[in-house]
Amino acid sequence: MAPSTYTGPSEISGTIAITGATGFIGRLVAQRLASSGWKVRALVRPASLRKRPDTAGVEWITGDMADADSLERLTAGVDAIIHCAGAVRGATAKDFDDVNVDGVARLATIAAAHSPQPRFLLVSSLAAREPRLSFYAASKHKGEKALASLAGTMFWGVFRPAAVYGPGDREMLPLFQWMFRGVAPVIGSADNRVSLLYVDDLVEAMHTWLQHNSTQPRRCYELHDGRTNGYSWQDIITVAERLRGKAIIRAHIPVWGVRMVAQINLMAARVLGASPMLTPGKVRELVHADWVADNSRLYRDTAWIPRVLLEEGMRQTMFK
Ligand SMILES: NC(=O)c1ccc[n+]([C@@H]2O[C@H](COP(=O)([O-])OP(=O)(O)OC[C@H]3O[C@@H](n4cnc5c(N)ncnc54)[C@H](OP(=O)(O)O)[C@@H]3O)[C@@H](O)[C@H]2O)c1
Repeated sequence: MAPSTYTGPSEISGTIAITGATGFIGRLVAQRLASSGWKVRALVRPASLRKRPDTAGVEWITGDMADADSLERLTAGVDAIIHCAGAVRGATAKDFDDVNVDGVARLATIAAAHSPQPRFLLVSSLAAREPRLSFYAASKHKGEKALASLAGTMFWGVFRPAAVYGPGDREMLPLFQWMFRGVAPVIGSADNRVSLLYVDDLVEAMHTWLQHNSTQPRRCYELHDGRTNGYSWQDIITVAERLRGKAIIRAHIPVWGVRMVAQINLMAARVLGASPMLTPGKVRELVHADWVADNSRLYRDTAWIPRVLLEEGMRQTMFK
């Protein structure tokens, strides 16, 4: 299938504002764009100043998605914005909405008021496809809507990556580590399918999106690693077994048990004011039957092709 609006690679660069550049995905985005000629301005929260990566050529703006002044400073005069900051754990809808909805709305409003307007890429999530599942999924869905409604004439795109993994990731790594110890927790139906995406491919997709001119329509794009129809638990464990060179025990964990732990976790987090990862919403996401993504729209518009399938990606994640 030939890409339809693909206009060929050009060397577009300039000044770019990045949010979330202290996180797993954002730090690699900042690195990639700085090394390919973009002048990078990145937002950092005061409490995270010490964990700033020392990427050469990045100008750090101290602030927060809740602080409009810092977002003004971050985006003044930029040619493009990649909004990668997001709340990925939390106990209440507000924990997620403050950043994933109100933060997007604030940034989009400020960006759209600039003249000339920058191009705006929002890193959403495949979870936004199923907003009823969790506070997180709902907040990503509402964030996309906020961008679309506030962008005005600004050129924008939304990325909905499947589960992203790679060196530095905190979500998938524990699963891989368990499998390399010889035990794979299996939660939910063995028929469930999930798409995956190696982080470098996601970063490359952002770079590619930026390299294409604004003849593309404003769109939402799903992204995965190129494996049509994703992976089952069995597929993932088979890859780990190949890399490990030994069989892995499948430990089927009853969903009711995980739900109970998640409920207790949530109650404790609310009392302690913590941000839990395992919540009832996360369990509903985990056992959802269909997290298969579709790359065809992004391929048509930009000719982006992912390079790293699970075996290589898992090797890089475990041994890099
Ligand atoms: N990882 C995945 O599998 C995956 C899949 C699909 C979509 N996504 C999306 O990708 C984005 C990045 O995810 P990630 O995995 O890189 O998460 P991460 O490692 O937790 O990074 C989140 C980033 O957002 C920043 N942030 C959070 N709240 C903020 C606020 N109020 N003001 C300013 N910055 C704030 C964090 O800053 P601090 O360092 O100060 O906390 C950090 O830089 C998120 O929007 C997420 O929804 C991730």
